[in-house]
Amino acid sequence: MISPELLRRYPFFGPFNEAQLREIAMIADEFEAEAGAQIFDEQQPAEALYLLLEGSVELTYKSEEEYHPKTRKVFPVGDINPGELFGVSALIDPYKYTTAARATANSRIVKIDAAGLRALVAADAQMGYELMRQVARVIAERLAYTRVQLAAAWA
Ligand code: SIN
Repeated sequence: MISPELLRRYPFFGPFNEAQLREIAMIADEFEAEAGAQIFDEQQPAEALYLLLEGSVELTYKSEEEYHPKTRKVFPVGDINPGELFGVSALIDPYKYTTAARATANSRIVKIDAAGLRALVAADAQMGYELMRQVARVIAERLAYTRVQLAAAWA
């Protein structure tokens, strides 16, 4: 468990009341990841939602080359900065990570159990609404960033 006060410092958790923050804090843990540590892999079941407290994390995507596996490439697709969330597939069906995540500097990270979070959402519709609203915002920002990258690649 972590302190609810820790979550309160981050805008993502702004919409939640005391009781809701306490419930989230109860299913969360803090850990340290050394630079280079793999946090999760692409296609792995999404068992946690993560909040980066300190350090940096890179998201990567593997291009699938079915017939020529040797030409498979790993592309960086985004950087996570302190205060940002990652592993949002923990809340999105089919609950599998769509990228890998790796610490690129020594990092402090909060890990929120996905099954616990989904149970909280199922039991508290208002909390579920706020959580999904926040997650939608994160995804919209990622989409905007991806469009800029795509436009740059085509320019
Ligand atoms: C994922 O959750 O599918 C990958 C990481 C992220 O976009 O937050």
